[in-house]
Amino acid sequence: SFDKETIIVVLGASGDLAKKKTYPALFNLYRLNLLPKALAIIGYARTKMDKDTFHGKIGEFLKGVDSDEDKKKKGDFLNICTYTAGAYDKDEAFQQLNKDMEERESKFENGASRLFYMALPPNVFTVVAEGLKKNCYSKNGHNRIIIEKPFGKDLESSREMMGKLKELWKEEETFRIDHYLGKEMVKNLLVTRFANPIIDAVLNKDLVSNVQITFKEPFGTEGRGGYFDEFGIVRDIQQNHLSQVLSLVAMEKPKSFSAEHIRDAKVEVLKSVPPIKDADVLLGQYTAAKGKPGYKDDDTVPKDSNCPTFAALTLWVNNKRWEGVPFIMKAGKALNEGKVEIRVQFKDEKNKLFENAQRNELVWRVQPQEAIYEKICTKVPGLQMGTIPTDLDLTYKDRFSDFRLPEAYEALILDALNGDHSNFVRDDELDVSWKIFTPILHAIDEGKLKPESYEYGSRGPSGLDAFIEKYGFKRADDGYDWPKTNVA
Ligand code: BG6
Repeated sequence: SFDKETIIVVLGASGDLAKKKTYPALFNLYRLNLLPKALAIIGYARTKMDKDTFHGKIGEFLKGVDSDEDKKKKGDFLNICTYTAGAYDKDEAFQQLNKDMEERESKFENGASRLFYMALPPNVFTVVAEGLKKNCYSKNGHNRIIIEKPFGKDLESSREMMGKLKELWKEEETFRIDHYLGKEMVKNLLVTRFANPIIDAVLNKDLVSNVQITFKEPFGTEGRGGYFDEFGIVRDIQQNHLSQVLSLVAMEKPKSFSAEHIRDAKVEVLKSVPPIKDADVLLGQYTAAKGKPGYKDDDTVPKDSNCPTFAALTLWVNNKRWEGVPFIMKAGKALNEGKVEIRVQFKDEKNKLFENAQRNELVWRVQPQEAIYEKICTKVPGLQMGTIPTDLDLTYKDRFSDFRLPEAYEALILDALNGDHSNFVRDDELDVSWKIFTPILHAIDEGKLKPESYEYGSRGPSGLDAFIEKYGFKRADDGYDWPKTNVA
């Protein structure tokens, strides 16, 4: 339920996540009048800063403020954003924060609800969650806590961390963010599959040859190599973001549209995925090229790092619907382009009437340029009889030009304020996903699986095409490439 009077506390307010994602999302919601009417936003972090410095820091990332009205809104927004410096491990500091909150609340009609947004490094998650529970827990309204990965480094450490948090905060109070669940096209998977029999009915082992879930970024780990080296691409992207996408693509229809039924269906499908085998893994690490630095050129990265910045992993969903269909998850940094998509490739027809007919594909393009398109064959227009590849194309910017697509964090913060868990990660979901990835993560950490090198700005390791083809993917030889003209 949405509370009219709310205090939002952003813990780690001086950090990168807060200024680049949390505050801009809060500002956009504020600007659209979607936040509670009686509202205070308190930034909290260790760094000492006065109000103006803080406002300068977050103000820089509040974008699209052009009109006088927007400028006024920005001023009003900053007015409700205060900043308090304090320790993460001292009761007195949290008691002071609590006093601050009580003072704000005294101006509200009823006691306010509190939303704690932890934009914090993982080493202080539990101590802050504890300090907040002990000293800042409201007796008059809802208390909710938002946390974001990394949730541990493997099954064991995740269980340990989640276990500690669970002793303090109830599951219904806890909102674990995976920001991919806030993306428009990821949310659309549920609708496009379960509101359209013609789509969902073809998603099965009889018709589908292979599924590829792809994440590509055109930049490296510049500036955060030290952090990244502890985790690697599999923990950064596949274990969370792409697993969420896989579960939405592969799951059965939930019993209802409720948060628990949706998450039950996701957990159920992930339970049928066995741990990834070493043979189903291709790793890469980028090297310097075209004036761009290699991964290990970063001073904060150890010279003998075995950390993958690229990984292609094949997962198998052992249930009636998907038995034998490879789900290939690819993720990489410093590649030739930035793109996230889900590509379902269908099998060839058994007795082809048209020799040249190429395989059908169904693609959800998550970013950039949201789109859903289906690659189909059609008759060559005109007097000749022959097939050419083309597509049924739903490009959002053409079809829905009047809609504004929200940022993932906007959608998620609003959900958390509404107490809706549908797009947050449940504890058992996290657990079952770690089970799938932990063995190969350990093999990588122990140096048993090694990355091949690939050049900054390339498509990835040279073995990539062969790796994908091994699982039945057929690259079209018809020159078809969608949607050349539409790609940003
Ligand atoms: C984060 C990863 O979770 O997702 C980053 O830690 C990555 O490494 C980012 O760049 C990608 O998110 P988006 O929304 O830009 O696709």
